[in-house]
Amino acid sequence: MSIIQGSASADAIALEEKYGAHNYHPLPVVLNRGKGVFVWDVEGKKYYDFLSAYSAVNQGHCHPKIVEAMVNQAQTLTLTSRAFHNDVLGKFEKYITNTFGFDKFLPMNTGAEAVETALKICRKWAYEKKGIQENQAEIIVCENNFHGRTTTIISFSNDPIARKNFGPYTAGFIKIEYDNLKALEDAIIANKNVAGFLVEPIQGEAGVYVPTDGYLAKAKELCEKHNVLFIADEVQTGIARTGKMLAVDHENVKPDILILGKALSGGAYPVSGVLADNPIMGVIKPGNHGSTFGGNPVAAAVGIAALEVVKNEKLAENSQLLGELFRAELTKFITTCDLVSLVRGKGLLNAIIINDTEDSSTAWDICMALKENGLLAKPTHGNIIRFAPPLVMTKEQLLDCVSIITKTLAAFAKK
Ligand SMILES: Cc1ncc(COP(=O)(O)O)c(C=O)c1O
Repeated sequence: MSIIQGSASADAIALEEKYGAHNYHPLPVVLNRGKGVFVWDVEGKKYYDFLSAYSAVNQGHCHPKIVEAMVNQAQTLTLTSRAFHNDVLGKFEKYITNTFGFDKFLPMNTGAEAVETALKICRKWAYEKKGIQENQAEIIVCENNFHGRTTTIISFSNDPIARKNFGPYTAGFIKIEYDNLKALEDAIIANKNVAGFLVEPIQGEAGVYVPTDGYLAKAKELCEKHNVLFIADEVQTGIARTGKMLAVDHENVKPDILILGKALSGGAYPVSGVLADNPIMGVIKPGNHGSTFGGNPVAAAVGIAALEVVKNEKLAENSQLLGELFRAELTKFITTCDLVSLVRGKGLLNAIIINDTEDSSTAWDICMALKENGLLAKPTHGNIIRFAPPLVMTKEQLLDCVSIITKTLAAFAKK
Protein backbone atom coordinates (compact mmCIF):
# COMPACT_ATOMS: atom_id res chain seq x y z
CA MET A 1 0.00 0.00 0.00
CA SER A 2 1.43 3.38 -0.87
CA ILE A 3 1.26 6.59 1.17
CA ILE A 4 -2.27 8.02 1.47
CA GLN A 5 -2.67 11.51 0.05
CA GLY A 6 -3.22 14.14 2.71
CA SER A 7 -1.87 11.90 5.51
CA ALA A 8 0.79 13.05 7.99
CA SER A 9 3.28 10.80 6.17
CA ALA A 10 2.44 12.32 2.79
CA ASP A 11 2.86 15.84 4.22
CA ALA A 12 6.27 15.06 5.74
CA ILE A 13 7.49 13.44 2.51
CA ALA A 14 6.22 16.38 0.45
CA LEU A 15 8.18 18.83 2.63
CA GLU A 16 11.41 16.86 2.16
CA GLU A 17 10.75 16.52 -1.53
CA LYS A 18 10.24 20.26 -1.94
CA TYR A 19 12.85 21.71 0.44
CA GLY A 20 15.46 18.99 0.80
CA ALA A 21 18.23 18.05 -1.61
CA HIS A 22 17.42 14.81 -3.37
CA ASN A 23 20.53 12.92 -2.27
CA TYR A 24 18.69 9.88 -0.88
CA HIS A 25 15.91 7.58 -2.03
CA PRO A 26 14.23 6.55 1.25
CA LEU A 27 11.52 3.98 1.65
CA PRO A 28 8.23 5.94 1.91
CA VAL A 29 7.81 5.66 5.68
CA VAL A 30 7.94 8.59 8.11
CA LEU A 31 9.09 7.68 11.61
CA ASN A 32 8.64 9.70 14.74
CA ARG A 33 9.42 7.32 17.61
CA GLY A 34 11.78 4.49 18.43
CA LYS A 35 12.26 2.13 21.37
CA GLY A 36 14.58 -0.85 21.41
CA VAL A 37 14.04 -2.89 18.24
CA PHE A 38 10.88 -0.98 17.25
CA VAL A 39 10.08 2.25 15.43
CA TRP A 40 6.66 3.87 14.85
CA ASP A 41 5.47 5.95 11.93
CA VAL A 42 3.50 9.17 12.23
CA GLU A 43 0.23 7.27 11.77
CA GLY A 44 1.16 5.11 14.78
CA LYS A 45 2.05 1.91 12.89
CA LYS A 46 4.75 -0.15 14.63
CA TYR A 47 7.66 -1.77 12.77
CA TYR A 48 10.67 -3.90 13.52
CA ASP A 49 13.73 -1.89 12.50
CA PHE A 50 15.83 -4.28 10.41
CA LEU A 51 18.42 -1.72 9.32
CA SER A 52 19.41 -0.01 12.61
CA ALA A 53 20.39 3.16 10.74
CA TYR A 54 23.04 1.20 8.83
CA SER A 55 24.27 -0.49 12.04
CA ALA A 56 24.43 2.66 14.18
CA VAL A 57 21.59 1.66 16.49
CA ASN A 58 23.15 -1.61 17.69
CA GLN A 59 22.11 -0.83 21.28
CA GLY A 60 18.47 -0.29 20.24
CA HIS A 61 16.55 2.93 19.78
CA CYS A 62 16.70 5.48 22.61
CA HIS A 63 18.57 3.18 24.99
CA PRO A 64 17.76 4.66 28.43
CA LYS A 65 21.37 4.52 29.70
CA ILE A 66 22.71 6.27 26.59
CA VAL A 67 19.93 8.86 26.61
CA GLU A 68 20.49 9.49 30.33
CA ALA A 69 24.23 10.05 29.78
CA MET A 70 23.48 12.35 26.86
CA VAL A 71 20.83 14.42 28.67
CA ASN A 72 22.92 14.78 31.84
CA GLN A 73 25.93 15.94 29.89
CA ALA A 74 23.84 18.20 27.63
CA GLN A 75 22.55 19.98 30.73
CA THR A 76 26.08 20.50 32.05
CA LEU A 77 28.49 21.30 29.22
CA THR A 78 28.08 20.58 25.51
CA LEU A 79 31.03 22.04 23.66
CA THR A 80 34.34 23.63 24.47
CA SER A 81 36.12 22.88 21.20
CA ARG A 82 39.60 21.46 21.66
CA ALA A 83 40.93 24.96 22.40
CA PHE A 84 40.26 24.03 26.03
CA HIS A 85 40.13 20.74 27.87
CA ASN A 86 36.86 19.22 29.05
CA ASP A 87 36.56 16.81 31.96
CA VAL A 88 34.91 13.93 30.03
CA LEU A 89 37.11 13.44 26.96
CA GLY A 90 40.04 11.90 28.88
CA LYS A 91 37.68 9.43 30.55
CA PHE A 92 36.30 8.41 27.16
CA GLU A 93 39.81 8.09 25.70
CA LYS A 94 40.87 5.89 28.62
CA TYR A 95 37.72 3.76 28.34
CA ILE A 96 37.87 3.23 24.58
CA THR A 97 41.63 2.54 24.44
CA ASN A 98 41.27 -0.01 27.26
CA THR A 99 38.28 -1.59 25.56
CA PHE A 100 40.02 -2.12 22.23
CA GLY A 101 43.63 -2.46 23.42
CA PHE A 102 45.30 0.58 21.83
CA ASP A 103 47.50 3.36 23.24
CA LYS A 104 45.66 6.34 21.77
CA PHE A 105 42.29 7.52 20.42
CA LEU A 106 41.61 10.44 18.07
CA PRO A 107 37.92 11.47 18.23
CA MET A 108 35.89 12.70 15.27
CA ASN A 109 32.15 12.77 14.49
CA THR A 110 31.17 10.85 11.36
CA GLY A 111 32.50 7.68 9.80
CA ALA A 112 33.87 9.44 6.72
CA GLU A 113 35.82 11.88 8.90
CA ALA A 114 37.32 8.99 10.83
CA VAL A 115 38.36 7.31 7.55
CA GLU A 116 39.96 10.59 6.39
CA THR A 117 41.76 10.75 9.74
CA ALA A 118 43.13 7.23 9.27
CA LEU A 119 44.33 8.05 5.74
CA LYS A 120 46.12 11.18 6.97
CA ILE A 121 47.78 9.34 9.83
CA CYS A 122 48.87 6.58 7.45
CA ARG A 123 50.39 9.02 4.96
CA LYS A 124 52.22 11.01 7.67
CA TRP A 125 53.54 7.77 9.18
CA ALA A 126 54.76 6.73 5.71
CA TYR A 127 56.86 9.89 5.31
CA GLU A 128 58.09 10.23 8.85
CA LYS A 129 58.53 6.60 9.93
CA LYS A 130 58.68 4.39 6.87
CA GLY A 131 60.84 6.79 4.88
CA ILE A 132 58.67 7.08 1.76
CA GLN A 133 59.48 10.16 -0.30
CA GLU A 134 57.11 13.09 0.21
CA ASN A 135 53.86 12.90 -1.79
CA GLN A 136 54.64 9.39 -3.06
CA ALA A 137 52.69 7.28 -0.53
CA GLU A 138 50.12 4.85 -1.90
CA ILE A 139 47.29 3.24 0.03
CA ILE A 140 45.78 -0.01 -1.21
CA VAL A 141 41.97 -0.19 -1.16
CA CYS A 142 39.48 -2.80 -2.38
CA GLU A 143 37.07 -2.80 -5.27
CA ASN A 144 33.44 -2.22 -4.27
CA ASN A 145 34.55 -0.53 -1.06
CA PHE A 146 32.37 1.90 0.83
CA HIS A 147 34.17 4.24 3.21
CA GLY A 148 32.03 7.39 3.03
CA ARG A 149 31.37 10.38 0.84
CA THR A 150 34.24 12.90 1.02
CA THR A 151 36.10 13.92 -2.12
CA THR A 152 39.13 11.79 -1.26
CA ILE A 153 37.07 8.76 -0.28
CA ILE A 154 34.94 8.77 -3.42
CA SER A 155 38.18 9.13 -5.40
CA PHE A 156 38.88 5.47 -4.68
CA SER A 157 35.28 4.24 -4.94
CA ASN A 158 34.27 2.33 -8.03
CA ASP A 159 30.58 3.16 -7.70
CA PRO A 160 29.81 5.42 -10.68
CA ILE A 161 26.88 7.08 -8.89
CA ALA A 162 29.09 8.07 -5.96
CA ARG A 163 31.92 9.28 -8.23
CA LYS A 164 30.71 10.72 -11.50
CA ASN A 165 31.21 14.47 -11.96
CA PHE A 166 32.88 14.91 -8.59
CA GLY A 167 36.43 14.92 -9.99
CA PRO A 168 39.26 15.80 -10.09
CA TYR A 169 40.01 12.91 -7.80
CA THR A 170 42.61 12.51 -5.07
CA ALA A 171 45.63 10.46 -6.18
CA GLY A 172 47.58 7.94 -4.15
CA PHE A 173 45.30 4.88 -4.08
CA ILE A 174 45.69 1.45 -5.64
CA LYS A 175 42.55 -0.62 -6.08
CA ILE A 176 42.65 -4.41 -5.84
CA GLU A 177 40.06 -7.15 -5.76
CA TYR A 178 38.51 -7.79 -2.33
CA ASP A 179 39.24 -11.14 -0.72
CA ASN A 180 42.23 -11.75 -2.99
CA LEU A 181 45.50 -12.22 -1.10
CA LYS A 182 47.57 -12.67 -4.22
CA ALA A 183 46.36 -9.31 -5.52
CA LEU A 184 47.34 -7.74 -2.21
CA GLU A 185 50.80 -9.30 -2.22
CA ASP A 186 51.38 -8.40 -5.88
CA ALA A 187 50.36 -4.78 -5.27
CA ILE A 188 52.62 -4.47 -2.24
CA ILE A 189 55.59 -6.03 -4.04
CA ALA A 190 55.07 -4.01 -7.22
CA ASN A 191 55.12 -0.68 -5.38
CA LYS A 192 57.71 0.24 -2.76
CA ASN A 193 55.64 3.28 -1.78
CA VAL A 194 52.73 1.34 -0.31
CA ALA A 195 52.00 2.77 3.14
CA GLY A 196 48.74 1.10 4.09
CA PHE A 197 45.95 -1.31 3.25
CA LEU A 198 42.44 0.01 3.97
CA VAL A 199 39.84 -2.73 4.24
CA GLU A 200 36.30 -3.42 5.48
CA PRO A 201 36.36 -6.76 7.35
CA ILE A 202 32.98 -7.42 5.69
CA GLN A 203 31.89 -5.20 2.80
CA GLY A 204 28.59 -3.92 4.16
CA GLU A 205 27.32 -1.43 1.59
CA ALA A 206 28.50 -3.58 -1.31
CA GLY A 207 26.02 -6.24 -0.16
CA VAL A 208 27.45 -7.89 2.97
CA TYR A 209 30.35 -9.65 1.25
CA VAL A 210 32.04 -11.89 3.79
CA PRO A 211 35.63 -12.68 2.79
CA THR A 212 37.05 -16.21 2.91
CA ASP A 213 37.99 -17.41 6.41
CA GLY A 214 41.59 -16.46 7.07
CA TYR A 215 41.68 -13.57 4.60
CA LEU A 216 42.02 -10.86 7.24
CA ALA A 217 44.66 -12.72 9.25
CA LYS A 218 46.75 -13.48 6.16
CA ALA A 219 46.34 -9.91 4.86
CA LYS A 220 47.57 -8.62 8.23
CA GLU A 221 50.56 -10.98 8.04
CA LEU A 222 51.43 -9.68 4.56
CA CYS A 223 51.16 -6.09 5.79
CA GLU A 224 53.43 -6.82 8.74
CA LYS A 225 55.98 -8.54 6.53
CA HIS A 226 56.21 -5.50 4.24
CA ASN A 227 55.86 -2.74 6.86
CA VAL A 228 52.46 -1.69 5.52
CA LEU A 229 49.77 -0.45 7.94
CA PHE A 230 46.67 -2.63 8.16
CA ILE A 231 43.76 -0.20 8.49
CA ALA A 232 40.42 -1.76 9.43
CA ASP A 233 37.29 0.25 8.68
CA GLU A 234 34.90 -1.15 11.30
CA VAL A 235 32.45 1.74 11.05
CA GLN A 236 29.70 -0.69 10.06
CA THR A 237 31.04 -4.05 11.27
CA GLY A 238 32.34 -2.91 14.67
CA ILE A 239 30.76 -2.68 18.14
CA ALA A 240 29.31 -6.21 18.29
CA ARG A 241 27.47 -6.14 14.95
CA THR A 242 29.07 -9.34 13.59
CA GLY A 243 29.03 -11.38 16.80
CA LYS A 244 32.34 -10.13 18.25
CA MET A 245 33.24 -6.71 19.53
CA LEU A 246 35.10 -6.20 16.23
CA ALA A 247 34.78 -8.21 13.02
CA VAL A 248 38.59 -8.61 12.96
CA ASP A 249 38.30 -10.42 16.32
CA HIS A 250 36.91 -13.45 14.44
CA GLU A 251 40.46 -13.91 13.12
CA ASN A 252 42.35 -12.52 16.13
CA VAL A 253 43.71 -9.63 14.09
CA LYS A 254 44.80 -6.40 15.72
CA PRO A 255 44.74 -3.64 13.10
CA ASP A 256 47.46 -0.99 13.09
CA ILE A 257 44.73 1.61 12.71
CA LEU A 258 41.12 0.91 13.73
CA ILE A 259 38.30 3.12 12.47
CA LEU A 260 35.03 3.25 14.43
CA GLY A 261 31.80 5.25 14.11
CA LYS A 262 28.05 4.62 13.97
CA ALA A 263 27.31 2.39 17.02
CA LEU A 264 30.01 4.16 19.03
CA SER A 265 27.07 6.32 20.11
CA GLY A 266 24.27 3.78 19.77
CA GLY A 267 22.81 6.13 17.20
CA ALA A 268 22.21 8.89 19.71
CA TYR A 269 24.83 11.34 18.47
CA PRO A 270 27.57 11.47 15.81
CA VAL A 271 30.65 9.90 17.44
CA SER A 272 33.54 8.38 15.52
CA GLY A 273 37.28 8.09 15.79
CA VAL A 274 40.50 6.27 15.16
CA LEU A 275 42.59 4.06 17.44
CA ALA A 276 46.30 3.35 17.05
CA ASP A 277 49.38 2.73 19.17
CA ASN A 278 51.94 5.42 20.04
CA PRO A 279 54.46 4.75 17.23
CA ILE A 280 51.69 5.47 14.71
CA MET A 281 49.43 8.01 16.46
CA GLY A 282 52.56 9.85 17.61
CA VAL A 283 52.99 11.34 14.13
CA ILE A 284 49.98 13.61 14.79
CA LYS A 285 51.05 16.90 16.38
CA PRO A 286 49.05 19.98 17.42
CA GLY A 287 47.54 21.63 14.37
CA ASN A 288 47.83 18.59 12.09
CA HIS A 289 44.23 17.51 12.43
CA GLY A 290 41.03 18.19 14.33
CA SER A 291 37.36 19.09 14.36
CA THR A 292 35.36 21.62 16.37
CA PHE A 293 32.95 18.97 17.58
CA GLY A 294 35.32 15.96 17.72
CA GLY A 295 35.76 14.87 21.34
CA ASN A 296 33.07 17.17 22.71
CA PRO A 297 31.79 16.32 26.19
CA VAL A 298 28.39 15.05 25.03
CA ALA A 299 30.02 12.73 22.49
CA ALA A 300 32.45 11.51 25.14
CA ALA A 301 29.70 10.79 27.69
CA VAL A 302 27.56 9.10 25.04
CA GLY A 303 30.54 7.06 23.77
CA ILE A 304 31.30 5.65 27.23
CA ALA A 305 27.62 4.80 27.85
CA ALA A 306 27.25 3.19 24.41
CA LEU A 307 30.25 0.90 24.95
CA GLU A 308 29.14 0.05 28.49
CA VAL A 309 25.74 -1.05 27.19
CA VAL A 310 27.37 -3.33 24.60
CA LYS A 311 29.49 -5.00 27.29
CA ASN A 312 26.90 -5.12 30.10
CA GLU A 313 24.15 -6.50 27.89
CA LYS A 314 26.48 -8.96 26.14
CA LEU A 315 25.39 -7.74 22.73
CA ALA A 316 28.23 -9.47 20.87
CA GLU A 317 27.15 -12.84 22.26
CA ASN A 318 23.51 -12.12 21.42
CA SER A 319 24.43 -11.04 17.91
CA GLN A 320 26.42 -14.25 17.38
CA LEU A 321 23.59 -16.52 18.60
CA LEU A 322 20.74 -14.73 16.83
CA GLY A 323 22.79 -14.42 13.65
CA GLU A 324 23.26 -18.17 13.48
CA LEU A 325 19.56 -18.73 14.08
CA PHE A 326 18.59 -16.16 11.45
CA ARG A 327 20.81 -17.67 8.75
CA ALA A 328 19.70 -21.20 9.61
CA GLU A 329 16.00 -20.26 9.35
CA LEU A 330 16.42 -18.33 6.10
CA THR A 331 18.61 -21.03 4.59
CA LYS A 332 15.79 -23.50 5.33
CA PHE A 333 13.32 -21.18 3.61
CA ILE A 334 15.35 -20.54 0.46
CA THR A 335 15.33 -24.23 -0.43
CA THR A 336 11.52 -24.01 -0.76
CA CYS A 337 11.51 -21.64 -3.75
CA ASP A 338 13.93 -20.00 -6.15
CA LEU A 339 13.25 -16.36 -5.24
CA VAL A 340 16.30 -16.08 -3.00
CA SER A 341 19.58 -17.58 -4.12
CA LEU A 342 21.67 -17.03 -0.99
CA VAL A 343 21.69 -15.79 2.58
CA ARG A 344 25.05 -14.68 3.94
CA GLY A 345 26.54 -12.70 6.78
CA LYS A 346 28.06 -12.82 10.24
CA GLY A 347 26.36 -12.14 13.55
CA LEU A 348 23.42 -9.84 12.85
CA LEU A 349 24.87 -8.33 9.69
CA ASN A 350 23.21 -10.39 6.97
CA ALA A 351 21.86 -10.14 3.46
CA ILE A 352 19.73 -12.12 1.06
CA ILE A 353 20.44 -12.21 -2.64
CA ILE A 354 17.32 -12.01 -4.76
CA ASN A 355 17.34 -14.27 -7.77
CA ASP A 356 16.67 -11.56 -10.35
CA THR A 357 18.65 -9.17 -12.54
CA GLU A 358 20.68 -6.45 -10.78
CA ASP A 359 18.52 -3.69 -12.20
CA SER A 360 15.18 -5.32 -11.37
CA SER A 361 12.91 -3.68 -8.80
CA THR A 362 12.24 -6.97 -7.01
CA ALA A 363 14.39 -6.19 -3.93
CA TRP A 364 12.75 -2.77 -3.59
CA ASP A 365 9.26 -4.28 -4.04
CA ILE A 366 10.01 -6.88 -1.37
CA CYS A 367 11.13 -4.13 1.03
CA MET A 368 7.86 -2.29 0.33
CA ALA A 369 5.91 -5.46 1.12
CA LEU A 370 7.99 -6.03 4.28
CA LYS A 371 7.09 -2.50 5.33
CA GLU A 372 3.40 -3.26 4.92
CA ASN A 373 3.96 -6.37 7.04
CA GLY A 374 5.66 -4.39 9.82
CA LEU A 375 9.39 -4.74 9.16
CA LEU A 376 11.74 -2.12 7.72
CA ALA A 377 14.70 -3.13 5.56
CA LYS A 378 16.36 -1.60 2.54
CA PRO A 379 18.07 -2.98 -0.57
CA THR A 380 21.81 -2.32 -0.80
CA HIS A 381 23.22 -2.65 -4.26
CA GLY A 382 20.88 -3.97 -6.92
CA ASN A 383 19.02 -7.04 -5.80
CA ILE A 384 20.53 -7.53 -2.35
CA ILE A 385 18.57 -6.83 0.85
CA ARG A 386 20.53 -6.17 4.03
CA PHE A 387 19.12 -7.38 7.35
CA ALA A 388 20.71 -5.72 10.38
CA PRO A 389 18.36 -5.36 13.37
CA PRO A 390 19.36 -3.80 16.70
CA LEU A 391 21.42 -6.27 18.73
CA VAL A 392 19.10 -5.99 21.75
CA MET A 393 16.60 -8.20 19.94
CA THR A 394 15.31 -11.28 21.78
CA LYS A 395 15.09 -14.77 20.29
CA GLU A 396 11.26 -14.56 20.24
CA GLN A 397 11.39 -11.24 18.39
CA LEU A 398 13.88 -12.63 15.90
CA LEU A 399 11.65 -15.63 15.18
CA ASP A 400 8.70 -13.26 14.74
CA CYS A 401 10.79 -11.32 12.21
CA VAL A 402 11.83 -14.52 10.41
CA SER A 403 8.15 -15.34 10.10
CA ILE A 404 7.35 -11.88 8.64
CA ILE A 405 10.25 -12.14 6.20
CA THR A 406 9.56 -15.70 5.03
CA LYS A 407 5.79 -15.08 4.63
CA THR A 408 6.51 -11.94 2.61
CA LEU A 409 9.04 -13.76 0.44
CA ALA A 410 6.71 -16.73 -0.04
CA ALA A 411 3.96 -14.39 -1.28
CA PHE A 412 6.44 -12.95 -3.78
CA ALA A 413 7.63 -16.35 -4.90
CA LYS A 414 4.04 -17.20 -5.92
CA LYS A 415 3.75 -14.10 -8.13
C1 LIG B 1 32.44 0.83 6.29
C2 LIG B 1 31.97 2.25 6.34
N1 LIG B 1 32.87 3.24 6.46
C3 LIG B 1 32.51 4.52 6.51
C4 LIG B 1 31.18 4.90 6.44
C5 LIG B 1 30.80 6.34 6.45
O1 LIG B 1 30.18 6.70 7.64
P1 LIG B 1 29.34 8.06 7.73
O2 LIG B 1 28.13 7.86 6.91
O3 LIG B 1 29.05 8.20 9.20
O4 LIG B 1 30.23 9.14 7.21
C6 LIG B 1 30.21 3.89 6.32
C7 LIG B 1 28.77 4.23 6.22
O5 LIG B 1 27.93 3.47 5.88
C8 LIG B 1 30.61 2.55 6.27
O6 LIG B 1 29.72 1.55 6.12
